[in-house]
Amino acid sequence: MKFEVLTIFPEVIECYLKHGVVGRALNKGIAEVKVYNLRDFTTDRHRKVDDYPYGGGAGMVMQIEPFYNALRHIKSDGIPRKVILLSPQGRRFSQRIAKEFYKEEKTLTLICGRYEGIDERIKAFVDEEISIGDYVLSGGELAALVIIDSVVRLIPGALGDELSAEEDSFMKGFLDYPHYTRPEEFEGMRVPDILLSGDHKKIALWRKKEALRNTLKNRPDLLKNLSAEDMKILKELCSEINKKILEGVHEPVNN
Ligand SMILES: C[S@@+](CC[C@H](N)C(=O)[O-])C[C@H]1O[C@@H](n2cnc3c(N)ncnc32)[C@H](O)[C@@H]1O
Repeated sequence: MKFEVLTIFPEVIECYLKHGVVGRALNKGIAEVKVYNLRDFTTDRHRKVDDYPYGGGAGMVMQIEPFYNALRHIKSDGIPRKVILLSPQGRRFSQRIAKEFYKEEKTLTLICGRYEGIDERIKAFVDEEISIGDYVLSGGELAALVIIDSVVRLIPGALGDELSAEEDSFMKGFLDYPHYTRPEEFEGMRVPDILLSGDHKKIALWRKKEALRNTLKNRPDLLKNLSAEDMKILKELCSEINKKILEGVHEPVNN
């Protein structure tokens, strides 16, 4: 899978790409990221990319010409690609969209804005606007990296243990189960006995139940279309929690 990033801060992107899962995937050649410096596509001596907003008001607006020139250059290879404008106004990114991009696209071109954003006419040259959440960042670079990282994790061979992506939060419609490592006891907090039992069937059941518990507590909105087996575990969990609430020893769920 290939990613192209258009930014005025290439070094921000390049720095992140050297490390961890993404860095390994790039070294293995199972993913590729090409970073373009928007200023290389300006035509004036000062390599200017912004100007004052028409109509007045605070801040600067990124001009369309450098983006247009860069996209023309990038697209000149004729390869099909999805051009994404990173913007707080776009479709909200999620694990489902990460999977969609991984399955349906071979090349994603990610456009990073800065300042007050990019001249509205950029929208004529992009396929989709994507937001990584309901908050405003100073630039699209973090959003581009969020998309690259979450999609690269889905490429077979990107993770040390391929099963670990399957178990991640959201992959099966609920959150991940709790993880523990050494020491067995820390500040009086013990690792649950079941994880030390060596009984893999019981461990799997415990993990499923704890994943459902996490989801019920923090993201009950995700608990839809559960399998009959998961529904049975959820019902057991709810009656356990209800019992504890009645006994006054359990905090009610958040939502
Ligand atoms: C300061 S923001 C501009 C925000 C714009 N004035 C607005 O309110 O919609 C500058 C750039 O950061 C990026 N950005 C900010 N928040 C983002 C988000 N939640 N998701 C994706 N990109 C974001 C976009 O590329 C945007 O052009």
